Amino acid sequence: MLDELRHTAARVESDIAGGPIVPCVTPEAIRRHLAANFDFSKPLALDDVIPEVESMLRQWQVQVTHPRYFGLFNPSVTVASIAGDLLTALYNPQLAAWRTAPAANEIERHTLKWLAAKFGLPAGAAANFTSGGGEANLSAVVVALTQAFPEFGEGGVRGIAAAPALYLTGGAHHGFLKTVRMTGLGRQALRYVATDGNLKMDVADLARQVKADREAGLAPFMVVATAGTTAAGAIDPLPEIARFCRLENLWFHVDAAWGGAAVLSPRLKTHLAGIGEADSITCDAHKWFSVPMGAGMFFCRHPDSVSRAFDSEISFMPGSTESGQDPYTTTTQWSRRFIGLKLFMALAEQGESGYREMIEHQTRMGDVLRQSLRDAGWRIVNDTPLPLVCFTREGLVAPRFLAALYKRQIAWMSSVELDGGEPVLRACVTSFRTTERDIEWVVGEMARIVEEEG
Ligand SMILES: Cc1ncc(COP(=O)(O)O)c(C=O)c1O
Repeated sequence: MLDELRHTAARVESDIAGGPIVPCVTPEAIRRHLAANFDFSKPLALDDVIPEVESMLRQWQVQVTHPRYFGLFNPSVTVASIAGDLLTALYNPQLAAWRTAPAANEIERHTLKWLAAKFGLPAGAAANFTSGGGEANLSAVVVALTQAFPEFGEGGVRGIAAAPALYLTGGAHHGFLKTVRMTGLGRQALRYVATDGNLKMDVADLARQVKADREAGLAPFMVVATAGTTAAGAIDPLPEIARFCRLENLWFHVDAAWGGAAVLSPRLKTHLAGIGEADSITCDAHKWFSVPMGAGMFFCRHPDSVSRAFDSEISFMPGSTESGQDPYTTTTQWSRRFIGLKLFMALAEQGESGYREMIEHQTRMGDVLRQSLRDAGWRIVNDTPLPLVCFTREGLVAPRFLAALYKRQIAWMSSVELDGGEPVLRACVTSFRTTERDIEWVVGEMARIVEEEG
């Protein structure tokens, strides 16, 4: 099985690296194709279906595992992690209860415990895999509410006397907007804190706002610090925020969805100092740990609050055992896929040292990209140790530039508006396969676009 998987993975990798990155297709063309070939009226041979599906995926998607995909954090994936997903599908373990899937549950717990220790969380911290960072952040808000307001579990937000308030910067992930809607807090619960010149949370402004909100009768309960903002890779000042939260009795959540993997790098981990003080942490394995989607992780130093937030025992489920609580009673999900196997397999195969190399390679490629862009006359507008570069130049019209970049199949990058400014270009080294040559070639081709199209 492994030989065949390696062979297939190598074929796909080479096909993708040698082909286009950005698709050119209309929804109508795909719908016509599907209607013509898959009306489900008669069975088809799987031998025919698989190449057909592969052909669609090959042509009609942004190839996020391409070494010149510099996008939002969708990684290239390792063979070990693909094997993990394959084994998960083959055995289809049900992780809702420990008894149904003892091996799978223990593999997940073992993996999470290892990573929790890397973050500096205490041995008894709770942790579970999630579908992604969005679910992990939702878990954090629900648990924080449960701990801050004992009446929340019974009465919901309407049972809380004062309006709860949650503090974050404009660079925090936009998914928090969904979270406050889903939890019934509403958009007004989000209190946006000012940032400094490097887009990091301004703790003095945080303190001012918390004080003013308390005086106005609100109930501040949580601060969300981001360790690697999506747009610019900014890392909020975690030690100062931790100190402030402790003093003010506020829940300290760190959204390290993509930046969290930096704890495995001796070179980078100093930038995450303070993360071990967090009440809860979000980190996605399907970002910088380079495993297939979806694999998020939620860590929390208060297992009792987690249990209270998600407690839901019922007679039709197998009863709990001496193994500890069942995941369906401590997490947002009920039926639970074996999400963690792909990370376990990748860690087992590469070891910590392999991960360190992979993360530091991408970090170096980020430095190479930053320097090559500077040398080519671009202006770098963000400041982060992570491999994410935001840049611009005089007269740049970002949408026009990106259209030319895509049309020539040079690379995939995006544009962002930092702090409400003009759109700038954003390139993140998301693939462990990206080389210095890829970067130099891309920057050279970008110079040609500037020359030829302005
Ligand atoms: C900082 C941060 N938090 C949360 C998320 C959401 O994670 P997911 O897409 O896995 O739900 C992202 C996604 O890019 C992110 O960058």
